[in-house]
Amino acid sequence: MGRLDNKVALVTGAALGMGRAHARLFADEGAKVIVTDVNEEAGRENVENITQSGGEAIFLKHDVASESDWKQVVDKAVETYGKIDILVNNAGILLSKSLEDTSVDEWDQVMDINLKGVFLGCREIIPAMNKAGGGSIVNISSIYGLIGAPDCAAYEASKGGVRLLTKAAAVDLIKHNIRVNSIHPGMIKTEMTKGLADIPEAAAGIAAKVLIGRMAEPEEVSKAVLFLASDESSYVHGSELVVDGGYTTV
Ligand SMILES: NC(=O)c1ccc[n+]([C@@H]2O[C@H](COP(=O)([O-])OP(=O)(O)OC[C@H]3O[C@@H](n4cnc5c(N)ncnc54)[C@H](O)[C@@H]3O)[C@@H](O)[C@H]2O)c1
Repeated sequence: MGRLDNKVALVTGAALGMGRAHARLFADEGAKVIVTDVNEEAGRENVENITQSGGEAIFLKHDVASESDWKQVVDKAVETYGKIDILVNNAGILLSKSLEDTSVDEWDQVMDINLKGVFLGCREIIPAMNKAGGGSIVNISSIYGLIGAPDCAAYEASKGGVRLLTKAAAVDLIKHNIRVNSIHPGMIKTEMTKGLADIPEAAAGIAAKVLIGRMAEPEEVSKAVLFLASDESSYVHGSELVVDGGYTTV
């Protein structure tokens, strides 16, 4: 408890899935949390759960692919809490399609949310982090930003982009005392992967490829995100933290 005392954290895509768990853990650790998402109902419900347990949070509707949404969200967050110390660029979508079946519109949508959204976040957050005297940005990539897989060309390209955008941002933003790192989750039980473990071939694949032999709960990733978000990782910058149960080890 208290690992994020006096910190203000913005988590995108925090209505459901891993973002929801990150926001909850951050609030439990003392942060004031700005929960943002396109899903207003689930986002407000997450904030209600946090505040009912004694945490501090607000919800702001936010499409991460929209530059004007980013400006409004950061303005409102600073108006409410005075600064932002932590940004988790978590919002993302999956497109399970092979390269030859992917339309240009589908490609653009994945890039807009998964990659442009992270770029906008890293850029738009700077003035709010300057008010905090610096900060920590955690970009959520994927193991599919590190290795290939069938039927997700656009998703992989976007997540590979997040991996190197993180390093570029680490180089450019350190003059603002902003640390930037990426997280690469493996197979995590969320809305995005709903039902996967129930498909026999998928379950067999997970058991065969994940050394730990199971999918992870979102909270198991939140603990890694918390480390990078907090001052405990004060010398970790431009790095990639893989949280995949050993999937990419072999
Ligand atoms: N689940 C996995 O196994 C896994 C593995 C590796 C990486 N990831 C990545 O982790 C992140 C979270 O994934 P998840 O599994 O929790 O997904 P999820 O689908 O369970 O939740 C994603 C959240 O993002 C929100 N969102 C979608 N588009 C948005 C937009 N344009 N603007 C703002 N919010 C938007 C959704 O409403 C939802 O609340 C994503 O970036 C995903 O690519 C997931």
